[in-house]
Amino acid sequence: MSKKILFQILSCLIISISSIHVLAQSTQRERLSLDKGWLFHQGGIPFPIIRGQGQTYATSKAGSATGAAAPNYDDNKWPRLNLPHDWAVEMPFDSKENVAQGYRKRGYGWYRRSFKLSPDDRGKYIELQFDGIATNATIWFNGSVVHRSWSGYTSSYIDITQLAKYGDDVNIVAVKVDAEAHEGWWYEGAGIYRHTWLVKCAPVHIVTDGVFANPVKMDENSWLIPAEITLENSGTATADATIEFTLYDKKGNKVAQAQTKASVSPLQQSTASIQLPVQKPVLWTLENPELYYAKTTILQKDAVVDEVITKCGFRTIAFTADSGFYLNGKHVKIKGVCNHQDHAGVGVAVPDALWEFRLRKLKEMGVNAYRCAHHAPAAEFLEACDSLGILVIDENRNFNVSPEYIRQLEWMVRRDRNHPSIILWSVFNEEPMQGTEQGYEMVRKMGAVVKALDTTRPVTAAMNGGLFAPVNVSKAVDVVGFNYQMQSYDRFHKENPAMKMTSSEDVSAFEVRGEYVTDRSRHIMSSYDKENAIWGSTHRAGWKAVAERQFLAGCFVWTGFDYRGEPTPFTWPSASSFFGIMDLCGFPKTAYWIHQAQWREDINVLQLVPHWTWPRDSIGKNIRVMALSNADSVKILLNGKMIGGQKVDQYEMNTFQIPYQPGKLEAIGYKKGKEVSRFKTETTGAPVALQLIADRKTLANDGHDAMPITVQALDSKGRAVPTANIPVEFEISGGGKIIGLGNGNPNSHEAEKGNKEVYSMDWHK
Ligand code: GAL
Repeated sequence: MSKKILFQILSCLIISISSIHVLAQSTQRERLSLDKGWLFHQGGIPFPIIRGQGQTYATSKAGSATGAAAPNYDDNKWPRLNLPHDWAVEMPFDSKENVAQGYRKRGYGWYRRSFKLSPDDRGKYIELQFDGIATNATIWFNGSVVHRSWSGYTSSYIDITQLAKYGDDVNIVAVKVDAEAHEGWWYEGAGIYRHTWLVKCAPVHIVTDGVFANPVKMDENSWLIPAEITLENSGTATADATIEFTLYDKKGNKVAQAQTKASVSPLQQSTASIQLPVQKPVLWTLENPELYYAKTTILQKDAVVDEVITKCGFRTIAFTADSGFYLNGKHVKIKGVCNHQDHAGVGVAVPDALWEFRLRKLKEMGVNAYRCAHHAPAAEFLEACDSLGILVIDENRNFNVSPEYIRQLEWMVRRDRNHPSIILWSVFNEEPMQGTEQGYEMVRKMGAVVKALDTTRPVTAAMNGGLFAPVNVSKAVDVVGFNYQMQSYDRFHKENPAMKMTSSEDVSAFEVRGEYVTDRSRHIMSSYDKENAIWGSTHRAGWKAVAERQFLAGCFVWTGFDYRGEPTPFTWPSASSFFGIMDLCGFPKTAYWIHQAQWREDINVLQLVPHWTWPRDSIGKNIRVMALSNADSVKILLNGKMIGGQKVDQYEMNTFQIPYQPGKLEAIGYKKGKEVSRFKTETTGAPVALQLIADRKTLANDGHDAMPITVQALDSKGRAVPTANIPVEFEISGGGKIIGLGNGNPNSHEAEKGNKEVYSMDWHK
């Protein structure tokens, strides 16, 4: 394995666990985080066997759940924890477990939590929200089953108004998690891994995800927000309300306002429309992702009873059949990556701040688009894409048109349709029925479900076959997604010149960070962009095929980051993927600089690989050096002596064979004959010190914020030693908490949660 010692600690400050933390509060609406103070039991808990007539009768009634679902169940000894939580990432690697899930035991688990409601809350509408539980879950509230969740990627919004208790009476939530079930062929984690909320509103309130505020362009300077607002009334009498819809810019200046009236019968919903014209807004672009804030205010007799803020952005999107994708009328070649959602140290329980970190790394590389493979992401992820200016394919998980799965698809579109970042709805990934009449009909139906909620974005499906079958899914979508179909791009375009096309997945190449010799017996893949899955290609070939075809909107490389599970082409002891452009921690592999050189036009990119710290017996032997650059030409110098120069090949990049001599290897990049970039790498000495590099200067002391800290070994001259391989122990004092550790090595079995007090990772094991 690599001799690098770039570790990453995710450090998170915690504050004392108070009851419930108020995150936002309008006149009556409260959205309270329920993330703190859950009790957890790992493993199944059998329900008591019920036999007698009387007992059977009694336990069949509302509020009479038994076993660990019962309100009075003794959970005293259960450990307390805060969400987000993924118990699978705490499990040891085990060859008997499922390779696809990263050789981690998942199984069953239980969570319980209590909370009190003030007598003042009586009469309010009360909702429990779970943003994501892996994988299936049953939820009880005060002894009644209130929800069954059939997907780890769909949120659960549960109306508990009628069952809630007030004052000294304690409310009990019990959740049984079935993570034996799987929905994907990648690591899915286990447990309540996204946020949980308690929402309190006035009886007349906006339903969750009940504001649709997606601006559409009317003519050159005029835009319209055709807003739709869904109200609900949990009260006892018909309510008349005024809905005020106000748009603010990012500085809080009022931009436009409109209002309408609505009437909602008791225990009914009602949807109102408001047309809000907006003149000359600042556009949402990739370079300047300007966001606006739409405030929906509900008034009854002039008193504000509810208020919701919805972010939105002004932009147009268009896919064309001959020249790809346009954002605001400007051609944009999509330079995308696919990703799963787990990260080093934390599994799928990703702190919100890490989304920003991961997206920032991708954007630095030149990525402008992200495909959520193969399911809807966390809401906080989409917020980050909106504010960083990254385009998104939002993808549905289950290809199924039965009522429950249609409900899941509708949930995704309803929750996400205000995000300017989203440019495509994907209804599936590589479904075997894609070339059949049944597949076509299913996609036709799912497309209609999406269009009933959002006509502004095209529907796609990621196809890896069936494209030329007489009846196939390509005919039921707006944009055809191609997974690993390089050989079919031209034929399909020729036979279907009016169809819009994008690669939805490509490449699937293998690299291990810091390794430059492939040794399959040790599960090592070299980082020269030479190895790839048989269905895929190298990074360079994948991009060339897309870049040279104007009719293709762009690419989505599999994958931006490594992820647990799917260690193709290997199995045990490899436990995570080799596909990432970056490893599990977000450390770049060679592919990172290849893409950066090919994708970033705004900076001069120049990087040499490999490092220049080789054993003495390498002296005189040729080392294959790759120069990754967007200059016109590059020159290489070793210890000040010119070794060679080449015209830059923007697709293949440049390779030199250089006889190894310790010292300084340098590259100089030229554009139009002028030096524009320089890069150097030096032979280092032995490691003598460790350096910790924090990703940010400050961490919010709010119990939620987190950041990665990189650890690297330095030689006596303060240079990072690329071949250092030493065990490191971590300890933290003060208010912070280490929430996970990683080294990005797909073959490592070290504990990602360390060992309680002292966190240690040893690459030698
Ligand atoms: C694709 C699939 C991905 C992943 C990838 C690995 O076919 O869509 O989820 O499995 O292969 O190469």
